[in-house]
Amino acid sequence: MFEEGATLKKRYGEENVFDLSLGNPVMEPPVEFRQELKRLTEHPLPGMHRYMGNAGYPETRAAVATQLSLETGIKFTMKDIIMTCGAAGALNVVLKTILNRGDEVIIFAPYFVEYRYYIDNHDGVASVLPTDEQFIPKLGVLEAAIGAKTKAVIINSPNNPTGTVYSEDFIHRLGELLRKKETQYGTHIFLISDEAYRKIIYDGLKYSSVWHHHPQSIIVTSHSKDLALPGERIGYIAVHPDCSQREELVDGLIFCNRTLGYVNAPALMQHVVQHLQQVTVSVTEYQKKRDFLYDHLIKMGYSAVKPQGTFYMFPSSPLEDDVAFVRELQRWKVLTVPGCGFGTPGYFRISYCVDDRTLEGSLVGFKKAAQKFNLG
Ligand SMILES: Cc1ncc(COP(=O)(O)O)c(C=O)c1O
Repeated sequence: MFEEGATLKKRYGEENVFDLSLGNPVMEPPVEFRQELKRLTEHPLPGMHRYMGNAGYPETRAAVATQLSLETGIKFTMKDIIMTCGAAGALNVVLKTILNRGDEVIIFAPYFVEYRYYIDNHDGVASVLPTDEQFIPKLGVLEAAIGAKTKAVIINSPNNPTGTVYSEDFIHRLGELLRKKETQYGTHIFLISDEAYRKIIYDGLKYSSVWHHHPQSIIVTSHSKDLALPGERIGYIAVHPDCSQREELVDGLIFCNRTLGYVNAPALMQHVVQHLQQVTVSVTEYQKKRDFLYDHLIKMGYSAVKPQGTFYMFPSSPLEDDVAFVRELQRWKVLTVPGCGFGTPGYFRISYCVDDRTLEGSLVGFKKAAQKFNLG
């Protein structure tokens, strides 16, 4: 999508292409980021660009642990945290550490498209389960699908591509189900919570975390979205302090961070984010964009579940063939992604982490397509 967008922009001019296909935040990082960067360059720490332990700087890990303890009421220490090259690096490290060849990892459609590749990278087998009409996983289906080979379940709330946020009640029931199945099969089932969008949540909703609901929990996340730093590749893994064989697991994670070739998370960014654990981009700005786009699309006759977080929307495709519909939008220079790319045909994903001009400009194309297919 990145390349295709670049080609179209070259041909028609940047201002005539409305690229809503990428989760690449348009917002600049918060002012505190620049201040911290400036402070570090003006007062460099000795050895600040050298290798460090593969898990990252103890002071950065401790700062993350303190923040997580504050947010959850559970006591985390630096020993529960491994700094990584983004959430993508974190996921690969976790899967490399826990999977044996042929182990099954359950994911829910629509899913972040890379999950399948990451599971495959580490000889796992992805088992894709459906969600309901609000994009919430169906626990009855999950119950029937878990078997002796199930090593992990990946959830992602707030969700890419739907913007759905899972409720506390849902997470609670999920945790209960996983423990029931662990007892049935005499296994451990990891709940891997991908929290890349944890802080981008709307309408005053409270984030429901996994920590109180399943001790075999691992979170993977990053500052790609909440601090708008996707190019800087800074994220972390956090392991539940009560996870069984915790020390062995953490040692494995640190080892795999090294042997997968990441070695360690970027040093400069670790120094910076150590002081930014309480800072987030303006969520109000994203909420305004969500409201603007959602209201206009609904008025035009599109049907969509209103996103509660992230900066994505996943409307139904007016055509059964979502690829054909995305092509139709492309004719109007509006770039989106077909739902089949997320394992869910019949929908398309819009990313609204773009400037207002792009969002406003895209409305003409959405309107033309709506008229063509007699919506509204
Ligand atoms: C759900 C989800 N998980 C993980 C990632 C990867 O994030 P990072 O850039 O921090 O590796 C993304 C990026 O878009 C994502 O949407």
